[in-house]
Amino acid sequence: MNNQNILIEKQDNIAVITINRPTKLNALNKATIQELHDCFKALNEDKSVKAIIITGSGEKAFVAGADISEFANFSVEEGGKLAAQGQELLFDFVQNLSTPVIAAVNGFALGGGLELAMACHFRTASTNAKMGLPEVTLGVIPGYGGTQRLAQLVGKGRAMELIMTAGMIDAETAKNYGLVNHVVAQEELLDFTKGIASKIANNSSVAIAKAIEAINANFEDGTNGYEVEIKNFGLSFGTEDFKEGTTAFLEKRKAIFPGK
Ligand code: COA
Repeated sequence: MNNQNILIEKQDNIAVITINRPTKLNALNKATIQELHDCFKALNEDKSVKAIIITGSGEKAFVAGADISEFANFSVEEGGKLAAQGQELLFDFVQNLSTPVIAAVNGFALGGGLELAMACHFRTASTNAKMGLPEVTLGVIPGYGGTQRLAQLVGKGRAMELIMTAGMIDAETAKNYGLVNHVVAQEELLDFTKGIASKIANNSSVAIAKAIEAINANFEDGTNGYEVEIKNFGLSFGTEDFKEGTTAFLEKRKAIFPGK
């Protein structure tokens, strides 16, 4: 892969993707979205990768939003297409990835940046992080899933207020709202998040993939999450990971999951 806008590092079953446009505060242009799609797809197919962390380069921003310079002259049709393509290529894609994805929010996560963090399976943040959906200051609305996922994560009233005021919340408030799970000092963020990722990596990746699918099912129109859970619970019994997990427990040893 010949990436211009992202960096990828793999170590001990954990991959770290760094969005690397620091002079533009890592704003998501079209090329970056495509590179991220290709990268997530490849990492998801690489069975040695058990968890993915995504973060931003530099000390200031995770991602300061969609690249405003790219869409400033768009028509109604182009605007609709931008949102639809972005959601399909990146935001929905990440949400439905079977490999766990954690956003390590290391600074500003605004607009598309917060939407990307919210599409990840969960979030950690540094104390300097600031989050918000300021789109209405530009005369648009969040278009990469923000109106849906923010309300799911923090509740409808808070989402309404944050979007209408275009307000920014700090990391502690985001934690109180349930938008991020943990807040740590910026210099500790990556190691702290890698620590969570390695706990995940010790568990059955097959079971985790089925759990992600079942949890996400609750938020899909026309899907009964309980039914997906029942189906995936049953399917787990046919996996090598289940045999290893239960055998290891009964033999009083640590399971070594084959990931099948
Ligand atoms: N799209 C394109 N470029 C962006 C950007 C975005 N979303 N966010 C920041 N940048 C660029 C700036 O244009 C600037 O580029 P330049 O040096 O070539 O002029 C560079 O990143 C640094 O940003 P700057 O605004 O100078 O930094 P700051 O510290 O003064 O302010 C922010 C930081 C995050 C408050 C401010 O950049 C901002 O409000 N960004 C837009 C946020 C937004 O509305 N996002 C939603 C988009 S849908």
